[in-house]
Amino acid sequence: MVSPAHGFALVTPASRGIGLAFAQQLLSQTKLPVLATARNKCDEVRDRILAGRDLPSDAEKRLRLFELDVKDESTISSMTDEIRKNYPDTPLRLAVTVPGILHVEKTPHQIDAANALESFQVNALGPLLLMKHLSHFLPTKSSPAFPEMEKVGEGERSTLALPSHAVYAMMAARVGSVSDNASGGWYSYRASKSSVFQLAKTFDLYLRSKSGRKALAVALHPGTVRTDFTKEFWKGRDMLEPLDSAERLLRFLTEMSPDTDGGRGRCWDWKGEEVHP
Ligand SMILES: NC(=O)c1ccc[n+]([C@@H]2O[C@H](COP(=O)([O-])OP(=O)(O)OC[C@H]3O[C@@H](n4cnc5c(N)ncnc54)[C@H](OP(=O)(O)O)[C@@H]3O)[C@@H](O)[C@H]2O)c1
Repeated sequence: MVSPAHGFALVTPASRGIGLAFAQQLLSQTKLPVLATARNKCDEVRDRILAGRDLPSDAEKRLRLFELDVKDESTISSMTDEIRKNYPDTPLRLAVTVPGILHVEKTPHQIDAANALESFQVNALGPLLLMKHLSHFLPTKSSPAFPEMEKVGEGERSTLALPSHAVYAMMAARVGSVSDNASGGWYSYRASKSSVFQLAKTFDLYLRSKSGRKALAVALHPGTVRTDFTKEFWKGRDMLEPLDSAERLLRFLTEMSPDTDGGRGRCWDWKGEEVHP
């Protein structure tokens, strides 16, 4: 295992879909400890992550699962208490927060208050509370820069060169963009995902003053990805595989500049193209 100064990576949740793919990519393409979460059945999720192809022999040792449901803030603070205890003096180097649910509403009269509230709770309040508890682990202006880390897994698989600053990414969605909204529908999903654009911007402004070039925040759009989320659209439609989406996004994140005009605080898709709010 690398020294604490190299930091840790975190993916929440990682039970399936894009989050699971991020955990596998981080295990195979970095040497960092990878902390991942699931709402339940952590042992099964751990096995699922470790069943990924081409994982290095130390993947099992580096992976740690925590039980976390963003609808229950106490599970978030329990995780951060555990991180403090088990990874002392280890800063957060790369975080991807992924929770998302969709209750389909095609017309206004299909809106159900309880479902809409749940969408906001998971898609908007979820990333907000994760940010609240995880922000303490990000480097400040006076923290040392992360040490250089040699690339791993040379050979057929591509590898990641981690930057010397921290990156905090939140999964938004293109449909959360107001300027891109041409078809309507999905009221509560759209509105709750719009807030992720705002959260990334606001958190990044905080990081600019607290961390300077040592940490940045962004929002992401993963593309249309073949997961349970898109199951009803699988037939006859080209989609990205979760591992491809996670790989493209990680490459983009680790190549981003922490400069003021380097794209921080904005939303980027898997092709590295901006999604305007
Ligand atoms: N797939 C796409 O094409 C697409 C496009 C745009 C944006 N996105 C966004 O990308 C993210 C991942 O999507 P996906 O395609 O991987 O979807 P997915 O396969 O449906 O996975 C959704 C994830 O959210 C978790 N989750 C649900 N409620 C939660 C809660 N209360 N607390 C913590 N985690 C919770 C699920 O955990 P359980 O396994 O416990 O249910 C699961 O890990 C979502 O934010 C989604 O909005 C996806």
